[in-house]
Amino acid sequence: MASTAQLIDGKALAEKILEELRATVMRMPRLPALAAVMIGDDRASQLFIERKKKACARVGITFHEYQCGNQRCLPDITADGLNELIDWVNTDPDIDAIIVQLPVPKNFDTDALIARMNPEKDVDGFHPENFKKFLNDTARLTPPLILAIEAALRATGEPLDGKTAVLISKSPIFSTPLCHQLKKLGLRAETMQPDDPQLPQATRAADVVLSIIGRKHFITADMLKPGAIVVDAGTTLEQTAEGKQKLFGDFHPDAQRQAGWLTPVPGGVGPLTVAMLLKNVVALAQQRQNNA
Ligand code: GUN
Repeated sequence: MASTAQLIDGKALAEKILEELRATVMRMPRLPALAAVMIGDDRASQLFIERKKKACARVGITFHEYQCGNQRCLPDITADGLNELIDWVNTDPDIDAIIVQLPVPKNFDTDALIARMNPEKDVDGFHPENFKKFLNDTARLTPPLILAIEAALRATGEPLDGKTAVLISKSPIFSTPLCHQLKKLGLRAETMQPDDPQLPQATRAADVVLSIIGRKHFITADMLKPGAIVVDAGTTLEQTAEGKQKLFGDFHPDAQRQAGWLTPVPGGVGPLTVAMLLKNVVALAQQRQNNA
């Protein structure tokens, strides 16, 4: 009989982190504040911004939402206008942390926007200065997605040292630091492109398979080794026949038959990443309050 993977309950782990953060925030002299810059109208990004906002409200973090480049707010914002907005939040003494929600619309330069952020408030760790420091192990924080994936892997209780890992990604801003961290955890990790013809062979040989590509059900059971640890950090948002929005992961549902452990979508890496983002916001706010 086919076995079924044990699910890594990211939602439950995230709930616990949010509760702990709330207790910490309530003891702080000033509430931490996060500024979120949302450019355009990508539905999935809007959903993620909404989730971040809700989580902030639960923890007691002030959420400053800057919507622009969409039907509702500043539809014609230019690159200069965006720079002005980022400069504003960079210097606003009330703001501890900034995110620019990715992806940004194609007519804007992602790298330039990220580089414009005050590196001391860059809570994602994307700024080139922070990115470099992370790879040198001298960064002030770890990117939330990496913290989330590490927490998911640790939640399995499985030893990781010496295991092999394949990370499927097209996006170096996520994959380079993640691969670095996986190696620090003792994994023999390599990053592969989704269209690499060698991919199925590599994933079938891997103890851990991680994916952050955003291609619905791309990785199927026959691409996995029995008992593999599966970390699904990809999301595709689709409208169901009933008109509801639904998130799908990069792994096909049949992966559950083959994997030993698996992060579900929804309810896996997503809520954990939000919780870790907030953890970083609180850490940045504490640093600023201690330095004031
Ligand atoms: N879009 C998808 N994941 C992320 C993330 O971790 N941070 C930001 N800023 N945008 C994202």
